[in-house]
Amino acid sequence: MAVAINRDLEPLTPHRPVLLLSVLNGAIVVTGQILPHLHFPLLLDSVQVSRYGSEVAGGVLQWRLHPRESVRGTVVLLLDDILDEGVTLKALQEYCLREGAAAVHTAVMVRKQRSRSVDVRVDYVALDVPDRFVFGYGLDARGLGRNAPGIFALPEDV
Ligand code: IMP
Ligand code: MG
Repeated sequence: MAVAINRDLEPLTPHRPVLLLSVLNGAIVVTGQILPHLHFPLLLDSVQVSRYGSEVAGGVLQWRLHPRESVRGTVVLLLDDILDEGVTLKALQEYCLREGAAAVHTAVMVRKQRSRSVDVRVDYVALDVPDRFVFGYGLDARGLGRNAPGIFALPEDV
C-alpha cells in the first residue's frame, strides 16, 4: 500500500505537504506501520468518528475529534482501519471536500468483501477479508482486541 501511495502522492508534494488524516482509534496500528514507509513530506493529524459506538452492529456516525490542521487547499490522505458499508469513509471524504481540500485520497487497511449501497471511492487497500466481524491490528470488537497481533474474525455465533 505504501508503494502505491508513494507513487501517486510523491509527485504532488514539491510545494505543499500531504495531510495524512488517521481515523482513530482503529487506524492507529496501520498508521504507525505505514508512516516510516511514506517518502514524501506530510503532516500527520487525526480525526475520530465512531459509527458503531460500543455496539458491534448498526448505529449512527458520531464526531469526536475534528482535524487541527487546516484541510483547505491540501492534498488529504484519509487512512482508516476498515471499509465495511463505506458510510464512515464517504462522510469523511465529503467533510474534507467541504472544508476545501484540493484532493482527497483514501486508504484502508482492510476491505470487507461485500456489496455496498454507499458509492465510495477507495484508492488503496492493504488486505481484502471475507464479510465477517474482524478485530486486531487496531480493530476492536466491543472495545477489546485492538492489540491482537494480527487480524482475526469473531466466531459467527457471538
Ligand atoms: P462503515 O461506515 O460501515 O464502513 O464502517 C466503518 C467503521 O466501522 C470502521 O472504521 C470500524 O471502526 C467499524 N467496523 C466495521 N466493521 C468492523 C469490523 O469487522 N471490526 C471492527 N470494526 C469494524
Ligand atoms: Mg474506525
